[in-house]
This record gives sequence, C-alpha cells and structure tokens, in this order.
Amino acid sequence: MGTVTNLMAAIADTGRDARRGGYSRAVYTPAELDLREWFTAEAGARGLAVETDANGILWAWWDLYDGGVRLPESSRRGALVTGSHLDSVPGGGAFDGPLGVASALAAVDRLREREESGALVRNRALAVAVFPEEEGSRFGVACLGSRLLAGAIDPAKALGLRDAGGNTFADVCRAHGLDPDRMGRDEAALGRIGDFVELHVEQGRGLNTEEYTDQAGRGPAVAVGSSILGHGRWRFTVTGQGNHAGTTLMEDRADPMVAAAQIVLAVRRLAASVPGARATVGRLEPVPGGTNVIASRVDLWLDVRHAEDATVADLVERLHGQAQKIAAFEGCSAQLVEESYSGTVHFDAVLARSLEHSVRRTVPGAPALATGAGHDAGVLASVVPTGMLFVRNPSGISHSPEEFVEDGDAEAGVAALADALEDLL
Ligand code: GLV
Ligand code: MN
Ligand code: MN
Repeated sequence: MGTVTNLMAAIADTGRDARRGGYSRAVYTPAELDLREWFTAEAGARGLAVETDANGILWAWWDLYDGGVRLPESSRRGALVTGSHLDSVPGGGAFDGPLGVASALAAVDRLREREESGALVRNRALAVAVFPEEEGSRFGVACLGSRLLAGAIDPAKALGLRDAGGNTFADVCRAHGLDPDRMGRDEAALGRIGDFVELHVEQGRGLNTEEYTDQAGRGPAVAVGSSILGHGRWRFTVTGQGNHAGTTLMEDRADPMVAAAQIVLAVRRLAASVPGARATVGRLEPVPGGTNVIASRVDLWLDVRHAEDATVADLVERLHGQAQKIAAFEGCSAQLVEESYSGTVHFDAVLARSLEHSVRRTVPGAPALATGAGHDAGVLASVVPTGMLFVRNPSGISHSPEEFVEDGDAEAGVAALADALEDLL
C-alpha cells in the first residue's frame, strides 16, 4: 500500500518548527495529535482495528481470522507487537519515532501480501503500537506511556507531572478523553504482548564505524539492538538572591547563574574522566529570566548515562557534591532531585538471536549494536521480551534536524522488519 518513504513523506510537514528547525511534536500538542490521526487513518486503510488504551497508547490490530471470520479478542493474547512513538524532542529530526511507526505499517503491507499469496500462515495476531511521550519533552519523564503500561512509574507521580505551561499530565490526559483513574500498569494489555520489536533510526555513528563499513565507507543498513545504556534525568535547583542588575555591586551578588555556569563545566569535566560516561545539561531555566535581573533561581536538567548503573549513581553523587561546593562559593545553594532512571537493559537473548538470524537474510553482516539512547523497548524489557532494529543514520546525528536516513536504508529496514516479524508470527 505504500513504501516507508511515501509514508514518511506524507508527514514531512507536520510539526515543523520554524524557530528551532526540525520538528517539535510534543505529546498531545496539535502536531502529535495530527500524527496520531494520520496513523489511525493509515492503519484503518489497512483494515487494522485501532484502539486507544487507558494509558493513551494506540494499538492497531491485525487480528487472526478463520474462514473470513475474525477470531475473538482472546486471540490477541501473546501477539507480536511492533511500533514506536510519534512525539519528538524540541527541534528534533524527522525519523526518531515516526520511522519505526511508518516502517511497521509498511512491514504489515508486505506481510499481508505474503499471507494472501499463501506464503505466510500466522499463528498469532500482530499489533502496531504508538507510545505517547517517549521523549519526555513535555512532562519531563521519558517513555511515560510504556512506563505506565509496565507499572514502572507510580501513576500518581505521572499524573502530577506538569508541562511548561503548568498543566498537569492528568488534566491533559483528561482533555484527550483518558480517565486518569484508569491509568497505570495494565495486565490485560501486557498479556497481549508476546514480543515487542521496535525499529528505530540509529542515533549515533554505530553503523558508520570502521568495524562495519565496506571499502566505500558504507556501513550495513540495519543492526539488531543488543543493549541500552543506563540513563536518567536529574534536576539541579540553584538558589541565590534575585536582585537588580544595575544597583547590585559584583561583590554583593549571590548569582545562581554564575554557579550554574560552573556546574555545567563541572559536569563535562567529571563525566569526561569516567570512561564510557555521557553527561549533558541540555536545558537551563533562570527564574525569573530577565535581561536586567540577577536570577533568584536557576534550574538545570542533567542527563547522565553509563553501561554500569553503579557508575551513573557514583557520577551523579560526585556531581551533586561539586555543585554544592560551587554554589556555596557563590553564596548560593544547590539541590538535586532525581526525576527518572532507567537501568541498563540487555534485550531478550532469544529474541535478539531470532532477529539477527532473520535480518541477516536481507542485510548480510547486520551487527548487534548497543545504543546510548532510551526507548520504549527498553522500558518494556522488564515485563515482556523486547528487541530492536536500528536503521543506519549516515549523519550519526540525532535529536537534531540533521538526523538522517537514506530512502534505500529505510526500505531495507522495512524488508528486515517484515522478515523478522514473519519468522516470529
Ligand atoms: C531518547 O531518545 C533518549 O535517549 O533520551
Ligand atoms: Mn529520541
Ligand atoms: Mn525515539
């Protein structure tokens, strides 16, 4: 019914961000809602039954039939699920999330053709899932939909999260037809997932490293995910004395912005001293935020990742200690609050072997690849077998408008996904 390239082209103008560049498609904003509508229409055109569950996750069901009669809903137990997310970071790329959703739809097209020709006999139902707030760019906690589904976050905590406009997640969910009282771990929905396979754009240079590239410098189009680095988000609140930029002598200031600037440098210095660690301050908010105002408070959001959870904990503790010293030197104070943490995930070994076996039929040499990026497949790994396919990103850049996938690689991704799903069906 359509190539992944055509599917992606149809949403290429949705949520473009003229100021930042790229796309801003935060959950439950008009852009992400338009993408949900697009998904619902595309799934409907394929005869898939689209449902929204209690946590706002979209499920498009390709049910099992017997003699033209759809089997009862109980036949969805242990289904094969694929999909990804449609929300983005602010000013993000086109592929992070939507490529996995569009590829899933295109893979269903291939599988239906195989079923119609008699080449495929399915033993289980298949669903394409779309998870809300994967990036956490609106409510702060990444993979919020899959965390709720898996019971990996207390629903009360999730519902109390606020966006930049002060709206609670509960209110926003309610406004979009969800019942906050029904949100949280969903045993019935989990029981319907036999395996979850998420295709995603590769978000680093993993497939472009010398180890994998051919003489023309080209890496394989697809890799199979092996693990996800432990990663979390923390918020530093640096408090000082708000004051007047003109009347306050330099020696009289307790300026949290000056402390914050030094904390940013300390984050880089300490993280660089730990092999394999990544630490980022990607967001900083001075309060009240006026050009002629010494801030009274600065909030800094910290993202720290490492393959060893204990190393992340140690690094964050040391950063906290440094931040407190820096703040005290500037006459300020610094507090640190953990907003979320996801431990290192090793994908299900049996599923990974099956994916490697299938994918290597169309992409010989497809390697197993670890990633530093978080995914719904990582969160769901604690409750169901999950695996991932990564499609080559020649720029090696992600969470930026420069994120890129070549059309040929995207089609190779669909072929690999379809083969992998066929083998699992
Ligand atoms: C999401 O892409 C993340 O890794 O933060
Ligand atoms: Mn992302
Ligand atoms: Mn993603």
